[in-house]
Amino acid sequence: MQTLLTDADDRLQPRLVIAGRWCDAEGSARSAVVNPATGRTIGEFACAGGADAIRAVDAATAALAEWRSLSALQRADHLQRWYEMVLSSREWLATTITLEQGKPLKEARAEIDYAASFIRWFAEEGRRIYGETIPADGPGRHLTVSHRGIGVCAAITPWNFPAAMVTRKAAPALAAGCTMVLKPAEQTPLTALALARLALEAGIAPGVFNVVTGPPVEIGAVLTRDPRIRKLSFTGSTAVGKKLMEACSSTVKRLSLELGGNAPFLVFDDADIELAVESAMLAKFRNSGQTCVAANRFLLHESIADRFVSRLLRSMEGLVVGPGIEDSSRLGPLINDAAVGKIERLLADATARGAELRTGGKRHRLGLSFIEPTLLESVDPQAAIMQEEVFGPVVPVTTFRDEQEAVALANATDSGLAAYVHTRDVSRSLRLHDALEVGMLGLNTGLVSNAAAPFGGIKQSGFGREGARQGIQEYVDTRLLCVGGVDR
Ligand code: SIN
Repeated sequence: MQTLLTDADDRLQPRLVIAGRWCDAEGSARSAVVNPATGRTIGEFACAGGADAIRAVDAATAALAEWRSLSALQRADHLQRWYEMVLSSREWLATTITLEQGKPLKEARAEIDYAASFIRWFAEEGRRIYGETIPADGPGRHLTVSHRGIGVCAAITPWNFPAAMVTRKAAPALAAGCTMVLKPAEQTPLTALALARLALEAGIAPGVFNVVTGPPVEIGAVLTRDPRIRKLSFTGSTAVGKKLMEACSSTVKRLSLELGGNAPFLVFDDADIELAVESAMLAKFRNSGQTCVAANRFLLHESIADRFVSRLLRSMEGLVVGPGIEDSSRLGPLINDAAVGKIERLLADATARGAELRTGGKRHRLGLSFIEPTLLESVDPQAAIMQEEVFGPVVPVTTFRDEQEAVALANATDSGLAAYVHTRDVSRSLRLHDALEVGMLGLNTGLVSNAAAPFGGIKQSGFGREGARQGIQEYVDTRLLCVGGVDR
């Protein structure tokens, strides 16, 4: 019989982390964690229900006063220890990510560094939640503004970055003096449990960071409706984000929503084509295209399109498709069969509308959810692949004649997360920075994400920012002290 990760590794248990302890869920149901590269079950997780989620909220509520009363420096010290433990557990965590999510080990290691960087950043940033004194509005009066951690927070995190999306939410919350209940994606609960274990070992007090695994409906109902939770942070699809927004309205929770993207990747006639191809490889193929900031639509100036495409096709030849655990693999499987099915539908629609397949276009011979890196030319801007988030290793290309047309094509979407532009013209760069309706613009780069930068979108890509100075503001209330009758 196969030994599961959750049997073989006593650091990973199919249980919940509530009030600093590994707890069984009230019901005995468990679900399988499946390695998308093999289709085999690698572990199990407990299926928490509403009562378990309430227990976790109880624990987070009970822990709040003491955690909040620590000095910012004391909380920073705890987070710093968590950061160090995450880094010293890099191999364990990265392997867990690769096994449950599928990405190549090299990328999983990079994700652990990325995840750790949020803990470090917010350990530091928690000490700089400055307030202000405002010149008073009248004699004998005094106006002071301060910020205080918002209270008990909830986070719902996706499967595409099982570690980084957890720390990007938990670290600022904890640094600001909040406590948290986390519900990780069902596909990737083990990494989240491992992070919770390390948080406890780092001395973060029981109840400050709780993890409930399981199907979304019952847990989600508690996290959106329990009045003790003051804020919910979610990364995932726009459709789910809208439902959460609705559900949170009954208790008027603060929200941060990091939702779907549809990033245009624009290459102008004066671009450095080598650099543009390098950026495209990163913006498109990182995590097999399963990032919400992935380049989704390639918009190329008609005079350089052939050159860019033939150069990109050459780079794509180097993408070795295979199980992430093998060193040679550069492109892992998609998360599941449904993800491949969606791409097949998008490709069928695009080719029926006249797109020309230059490479790929089908499941990879490895089977399961492996898919060939694909490039389509002459894609109709109205095709579904240009309107929907692809979330896979597919490059749909269309051309434009001038900057005005490029901007119109780029903005023709309800999404507004990221865009990428390659040009050497400074004036054009600044015009595009004004004109493109996105929260993040990568100019001559294919990677915008890092702990120091504010990550987030506009339009239906959501609101709120993660990372950066702004990221911690999402977890504080601004409070006014207005004093009258001051003797002068
Ligand atoms: C995401 O896909 O949601 C996050 C990607 C990133 O942080 O770069």
